[in-house]
Formats: sequence, C-alpha cells, structure tokens
Amino acid sequence: MSADASFPGFGAFDQLATMVAVATPEGRCLLANATLENMAGVSRRALQRGSVLDWLADPAPLRDALRMVAGNEVMVGRFDALMKRLPLGSAELPVHVIVSQSDFPDHVLVEMIEIEQQTRLDREERVHGLAQANKELVRNLAHEIKNPLGGIRGAAQLLEMELRSPELSEYTQVIIHEADRLQALVDRLLAPHRRPQVVGDVNIHEVCERVRALILAEYPRGLQVERDYDTSIPEFRGDREQLIQAVLNIAHNATHALAERIAAGDAQLVLRTRIARQVTFTKHRYRLALELHIQDNGPGVPEAIRDRMFHPLVSGRDGGSGLGLTLAQTFVQQHQGTIECDSMPGRTDFKILIPLP
Ligand SMILES: Nc1ncnc2c1ncn2[C@@H]1O[C@H](COP(=O)(O)OP(=O)(O)OP(=O)(O)O)[C@@H](O)[C@H]1O
Ligand SMILES: [Mg+2]
Repeated sequence: MSADASFPGFGAFDQLATMVAVATPEGRCLLANATLENMAGVSRRALQRGSVLDWLADPAPLRDALRMVAGNEVMVGRFDALMKRLPLGSAELPVHVIVSQSDFPDHVLVEMIEIEQQTRLDREERVHGLAQANKELVRNLAHEIKNPLGGIRGAAQLLEMELRSPELSEYTQVIIHEADRLQALVDRLLAPHRRPQVVGDVNIHEVCERVRALILAEYPRGLQVERDYDTSIPEFRGDREQLIQAVLNIAHNATHALAERIAAGDAQLVLRTRIARQVTFTKHRYRLALELHIQDNGPGVPEAIRDRMFHPLVSGRDGGSGLGLTLAQTFVQQHQGTIECDSMPGRTDFKILIPLP
C-alpha cells in the first residue's frame, strides 16, 4: 500500500531509508511511510489509527517537540529516544528523532533515524572519502614514478652496451630488473583506470563459476569450493571481466589465508548468492540488490589492518602488494556496489552488494 494521495508527493517518502510520519500537533498519526511500518513491525493502517506518542518509550520529549514546532516556537526539534517495536518483547530501537514543520498547516513531520544506521552511514561515508583520497594519491604517485622509470631503464641498457667487463653488467642487470619490477607494480596501480568499462548483460553465476574453475585449477587438492546459488537472480548490466577480477581477488586472498588448511586438507571456500530486498548502501536505498558472499574458514583478517584493508598498499601477508582489495572495490563501485567484510577466526565473509534492476 502506498502513502496517502491527499498528500501530494508523500509517495516518495516510501523510498526513504529513514522512518517518516506526518502527525497533528497533538500527535495523531496521519501518515506513516514504508520504512516506519517495517521497523515498527506494525501495519501502516494500525499506525495511522494511533498516536505517534505511543511509539516511544518516553513520550514527553516528543509531545514537547510537537507542541513547540507547531506553535512556531522552534523550527526543528531534535532528540534521541527509544522506539517501541512489535511483536511485544522485541528490543526497543535507539533512534534520533527530528520533528519539523511541513508545508501543510497543523501537520508536523516526524522523522526517525536508527542511531546505529546513522553511525554506520557516517562511518561508510568517512571511509569512502578516505579511500577515494588515497586512491587519487596513489594514482598520481604512480604516474610520477612511471615516467622517470622508463628513462632509468633505458639508460641502464645503454650503459650495459658500453661496458667491457661482464662483472659490471651484473649491476646494470639489477637496475633493469628492479625497474621492471617497479614498472609492474605501477601498472597494477594504474590498471583499473586504463581499460574502459565494457558493459553487457551479466549473469552472476557465470562469474562465480569462472572464479571457481580458476581457483580449483590452482588448488586441485585440499580446498573445497562450495556453491550455494539463488538461481532466480536476474541478469544485470555490468562489466563481466571486471566482476570476475573482483571476485577472483577476494577468493585469492581467501586461498592465501587458507594455506595451512589447504595443506591439512580441510580448507573451505563458499560462493553464495542471494537477493536482498530494500537495502541501503552507498547512501541509496535499493528495492533489489544482488548479495554475493565469498566466505572462507581461514584464520580471519589480521586485526591490525581490518579497517584499512581496502586501502591501496595495505597488506597483511608476506609478498602481498596490497592492491587486490583496492582493485576489487574499484570494480564493484563502478557497478554502484559496495563490499563489506565480516571476519573472525574460522569464518571470514566478504559480501559484495550490487543493485539489481
Ligand atoms: N579472506 C581473508 N582472510 C584473511 N585475511 C585476509 C582475507 N582477505 C584479505 N585479507 C588481508 O587483507 C590484506 C589485503 O588484501 P589485498 O588483496 O588488498 O592485498 P594482498 O593480498 O596483500 O596483495 P595483492 O592482492 O595485491 O597481491 C591481505 O594481505 C590479508 O592480510
Ligand atoms: Mg590479495
């Protein structure tokens, strides 16, 4: 059921991730949006028969805010509160309440944001901003390194041709070899921005199957790659190769973390797909999204790098360049998606979320 037609534009409130209601100054609920209905666990019809004052554990601050906003004493009232939920016995939900004037006389807007959600959104935004700044820095730096590198390598080659003694050419070989190594690193740093996106219809299970085949070819023994697919997931527009690379990078990390278990023969990797409904990520609410989990039974992401592991050049293993997750994240972000990670010893779960049509 959509919101009331007597409030033009209120239907759009159903798209919001926050809970919104319209109430009279006395607290009678005139309208409630879909999110409020879901969070409160009460049908919209029941909500609209009652009083918004009944929703909070302590109604006093809301009663005051409604009165003051309706009476033009303040433009906006804000406070934190506990929201009651059904079924009875459900935990009360900590919310931040914002009461403000609406365009209609005697109608007040009551907006409630789950406090945890607010902190999560803040954190996501901060992390995202930092990651963007980091990536830009690394990219610029890579460009700066790339140009002189060609010159260094070329000069070493010329020098080598002039050398009479073979012992000395060992040194020029070191220069050339190290320049090549640096070149390869710089190329990986610049890679995601080099090839334009090739957009087509993507079947996520084709992506998973390809990754599975590649991983199994690399680890024919000691590693079980389980698949748990929801085959009803529709195709979506995207870049297949980019997504294969993203999933492969994450799966590769898992296999690195699983080294001991692979040797012991009980390593496990799970590829799981699901449809998520009404989810919020990257500040948007999506009706449908693809949820792809890449889960392993390894030791977990080292505590020390857990909140930085998506940053470029952050690695927790010997010989790692710290670019795999940065690349994976860039590719997923190019699909308006996001990657989340939940890790503990014995169970690490990377979740890729991508909006579905
Ligand atoms: N499934 C996992 N289990 C445990 N640790 C993980 C897992 N996935 C990632 N990590 C940690 O996160 C770090 C960063 O991963 P990332 O793929 O970005 O870089 P890398 O694997 O070190 O190097 P590269 O992928 O560039 O070769 C890893 O070094 C590892 O310590
Ligand atoms: Mg990696």
